[in-house]
Amino acid sequence: MRHLLTISGVTDDDLATIYDLALAPLDDSLLAGQGVALVFELASLRTRASSATAVHELGGYATFFSDAEIGLGTRESVADVARTLSELFALCALRVRKYEVFEAMRVATDDRMALINLLSPGAHPTQAIADVLTLAEHFGNGDVSSLRGRTVAYVGDATNVTRSLAVALARVGANVHVGAPTAYQLTPDGDENALADFGPGSGAVRLFDNAVDAVRGADAVYTDTWISMGDEAEAEQRRRDLASFQVNDELLGHAAPNAVVLHCLPAHRGEEVTDDVLDSERSLIWRQVQHRRSAMVGVLRWIKEEA
Ligand code: CP
Ligand code: NVA
Repeated sequence: MRHLLTISGVTDDDLATIYDLALAPLDDSLLAGQGVALVFELASLRTRASSATAVHELGGYATFFSDAEIGLGTRESVADVARTLSELFALCALRVRKYEVFEAMRVATDDRMALINLLSPGAHPTQAIADVLTLAEHFGNGDVSSLRGRTVAYVGDATNVTRSLAVALARVGANVHVGAPTAYQLTPDGDENALADFGPGSGAVRLFDNAVDAVRGADAVYTDTWISMGDEAEAEQRRRDLASFQVNDELLGHAAPNAVVLHCLPAHRGEEVTDDVLDSERSLIWRQVQHRRSAMVGVLRWIKEEA
């Protein structure tokens, strides 16, 4: 049974297949008559919308479950939720507060139901796949190998998005610079360890403690919110600590002349990124949103073992 839980957990060949299937002509009856359960313990716009759209495009149907309705681990055990869903659905895609939910569901269902991670505290793999597709579209007309040797700078809080992005980019040979204050920097741990050794041919992941050094000469600059879901109590402290990591025109002056800008959204305009930058010609944010759907199509097709 195939699962997409982290970028680290998928082989290079499987990732290449996902990138290909995301954009290749599709069979709109691949999921005919099959349901995909979408379980969200946390808020979402893009991930829910793109998942539902991708399932529909492949001929299936998506059913949404909020945590308020099913109480994952509170109204009912995670194991019983998993067993129930596996009786009725072929696949289950989840946004979770704890990564351990995936392992508990695999054990409870004897691995009978495919699982997709739609964001956990330490990973956002479907976002990273969309971001690779977006950058490959921009730099190589869709050819992922065009990213080899490029430099992508991530600036701000090193989040779940940063982790999956860094792994995905390094694995396709891009160099990743992460600029963050020490307390907000990537750490060599977790299910999506962006500081692991990715082997020959991989790009390097380099850490910087200031934004200017991180973006110097970069082909793309990426940022995410300073206040991720679950960090709300630290909001004021985070705004103070991260203020010098805002992506604005001045900072972009240190990047390559035609550098592009990415953001997974939702954006907090005026905090981690300015309006001017987000709405400029160099911003790829709406292509990223489009590719959330392509990425999900690729993941679903790969899980259904079409390739
Ligand atoms: N980028 C992203 O995952 O957006 P949502 O949280 O709105 O799904
Ligand atoms: N880092 C953010 C990403 C939202 C898509 C969060 O976890 O809230």
